[in-house]
Amino acid sequence: MNMNIAVLAGDGIGPEVVDQAMKVVKAIGQKFDHNMNFTSAITGAAAIDAVGDPYPEETHKICMDADAVLFGAIGHPKFDNDPSAKVRPEQGLLRMRKMLGLYANIRPTLVFPSLLHKSPLRRELIENADFVCIRELTGGIYFGDKGRNEAGDKAWDVCEYTKPEVERIVRLAYQYAQKRRKKLTVIDKANVLETSRLWREVCQGLEKEYADVETEYLFVDAAAMRIIQWPEGFDVVVTENMFGDIISDEASVISGSMGLMPSASIGLHTSVFEPIHGSYPQAAGLNIANPIGTVLSAAMMFEYAFDLKEEATLIKDIVDKSLAEGIVTEDIADDSKAYSTSDVGDWLAAQVV
Ligand code: IPM
Ligand code: MN
Repeated sequence: MNMNIAVLAGDGIGPEVVDQAMKVVKAIGQKFDHNMNFTSAITGAAAIDAVGDPYPEETHKICMDADAVLFGAIGHPKFDNDPSAKVRPEQGLLRMRKMLGLYANIRPTLVFPSLLHKSPLRRELIENADFVCIRELTGGIYFGDKGRNEAGDKAWDVCEYTKPEVERIVRLAYQYAQKRRKKLTVIDKANVLETSRLWREVCQGLEKEYADVETEYLFVDAAAMRIIQWPEGFDVVVTENMFGDIISDEASVISGSMGLMPSASIGLHTSVFEPIHGSYPQAAGLNIANPIGTVLSAAMMFEYAFDLKEEATLIKDIVDKSLAEGIVTEDIADDSKAYSTSDVGDWLAAQVV
């Protein structure tokens, strides 16, 4: 197959982890005889430094022209600690999501048998956990009007959703649930928020069309508890942008390390595949970051962008093997046996035979 892949490594540990995923992707390309063409583009703080814009037009064009985007991470402490910064790396990420129309962010919560002891939760609570969080990604409070009054002592961020925006993500979630264990949990705050009541109304209207799926409604505060108390009770979760941001971070620690978790953002134009961890600046350049979240994001890329299940499964199997054999970075290593980021990448790529 011919594949045009845009590579946006971004900031912090982004370049290091993307390098490792690329080793694996290239090895897969060779094994399965794919013709792969990679185009790198700048984003995040790196792009602000270079051209003053965290998602330059040129980068957007490269993404639009590609079949898939492999993304690292963006963010830099010099912006986090400066609330007055006019241009921020995160704006690049949000603009990319909006301009590529990536309304669905799919974040699986995976539990690896060989890492059960790394989870902050007891083994018996998590060994059967396997759920997917589907987060709405181009609406809600992230994209509503925001501002300050003239005195600067009052600020607002408006949360808005339209019916069509809710319907398209909820339909996607139902279809996802139909292919899994046929349970959909809708997370909202309908006891307080009008947008949540709109979400509920839309979901209730769709229930009959997806009668083979059991629909459950949970308030976000209760859901946050339930994820810790009974994670195996979830199959597919759907929620708005900010609740999804928080809930998916919470869910990611169940596996033992956030560094393991991949994601796919899909929608109208080119899909983006990225680990859910951030730029982790403290680890940048140290060759210690866990590349597995990005490697598994590449597996999602083969599955979602190219419909190549065999390639995706092979990557997942190799990752399982690395975890079982302890070829892992320090965040999940037992005792002192930690491997470097690049060693893990080399090992994984060498397993693709
Ligand atoms: C994520 C991140 C982003 C978000 C930030 C970096 C803007 O936390 O992808 O979850 O809040 O969506
Ligand atoms: Mn987040």
